[in-house]
Amino acid sequence: MALRDRWPSRTAFIYAAIGSAVGLGNIWRFPFLAEKFGGGAFLIPFLIALFVAGIPLLILEFAIGQKIQKGAVDSLASIKKKLSGLGWWALFTAFIVISYYVVIMSWSLIYLFASFGVQWSEDPESYFFNNVLQISESVDSIGTIVPAVFIGLLISWILIYFCVWKGVRSVSKVVMWTVPLPIILLFVLLIRAFTLDGAMIGIVEYITPDFSALFDTEVWIAAVSQVFFSLSIAFGVMIAYSSYNKKGSDISKNAFTVGIADTVIAIIAGFVVFGTLGFMAEQQGVAFDEVVASGPGLAFIAFPQALSLMPFGTIFSILFFITLFTLAIDSAFSLVEAVNIVISDKIKMKKQYIALIVCTLGFLAGIIYTTNGGLFILDVVDHFVTNISLIVIGILECIAVGWIFGAKKMRSYINKVSDFKIGAWWDTTIKYIIPISLAVILALQLKREFVENYGGYPDWAILIGWGVVLVPLAIAFSIPQRTVKSTT
Ligand code: PHE
Repeated sequence: MALRDRWPSRTAFIYAAIGSAVGLGNIWRFPFLAEKFGGGAFLIPFLIALFVAGIPLLILEFAIGQKIQKGAVDSLASIKKKLSGLGWWALFTAFIVISYYVVIMSWSLIYLFASFGVQWSEDPESYFFNNVLQISESVDSIGTIVPAVFIGLLISWILIYFCVWKGVRSVSKVVMWTVPLPIILLFVLLIRAFTLDGAMIGIVEYITPDFSALFDTEVWIAAVSQVFFSLSIAFGVMIAYSSYNKKGSDISKNAFTVGIADTVIAIIAGFVVFGTLGFMAEQQGVAFDEVVASGPGLAFIAFPQALSLMPFGTIFSILFFITLFTLAIDSAFSLVEAVNIVISDKIKMKKQYIALIVCTLGFLAGIIYTTNGGLFILDVVDHFVTNISLIVIGILECIAVGWIFGAKKMRSYINKVSDFKIGAWWDTTIKYIIPISLAVILALQLKREFVENYGGYPDWAILIGWGVVLVPLAIAFSIPQRTVKSTT
């Protein structure tokens, strides 16, 4: 049997895992969730979800991949044959996420070029919707492909291909640059934000807790799905990456390092965004609430607008969109690599070809989001996948390891290889606390879905949402299973 590829060093693995975790979720999703759910109050459920569910599950995924030395499908199948279905489901979900994730990268590329001359400065909102997206009135009219977004998508995919084409060998070289660079740029933007007049208005808004938000179940649902999305768990990505570690590598210290780095970067991104928007509120003499837009509008409307108001706006805009793009690319190729590894576990084919096929399919799947109605579809798909599929996959992973493999057995492996020993709390967390709390969250979420259509979309769009959850699920569990022997 051919020897498995390996990370050249522990640093390469940590960089790659941090690169996967830190992405659009940190700089685009986290700040707008924090804003939407009462500023500093969102931090509390977020941190609780991080320590109670996020890090223990990250430990679990690192342990599965590293112990069994396979991608998600074969790793889970070696615990129990039927579980290969869970692996496939995680994988299909990763594929769906990557198909729209790269479209957001394409918007960032367009903005990077538009930064020369700060082309949106006249009317940032109209620039985003009418010039960049050329959006239709509603999801009912899909329209045609928007050329610039399509070309941006193609360029992004070509870049992604060259990051993953040699598997872990190319990835480990790329991450040495693409992980530190945006983090350094983020610090530059942080200093810029703090030195702007009015920054404090935004920062106060960000860190002032609104404790009433804690009693809102929606906040908890959002916090948990944000933790999952941001740590790249339940996609098979972290299983794939850790399977390139040697069996004796540390697990728990790595998981804490990645989890905490990801959180610190999200919190810093929050300061950058809120500080900069505070400056804009002061410039325009309006209340803070009036300058913030939620959702995609934050990174592509409000923030660019603030950039256009500051001295050297062009330079800071370029820096911001390079940051956004390079933060996202490591996440994007980690998703691709998770898919590639499963294929290369199954069939003998050169890495370059597998990567080429997966990247081409990902590009083709993304075309739907480059249409005039693309943003609506993206919104629906993202909502269903992150709020339903991920939660169910999380519950099933806990059952697989906690109950079928045995939490205690896994923990004794983890402690054998790790400097930092984890206690029996981990078993309780994996066996009871996470699955039960996720089940409650899922029930609440399902109730909401059935009370009213998400985002007021028509029934057929909601049906697509259910489709991206249920069709992959059905296919995943009908793929014939074969017994996989673990290399243990
Ligand atoms: N964690 C990434 C982010 O926050 C997104 C991602 C999800 C990447 C799942 C890989 C797997 O942007």
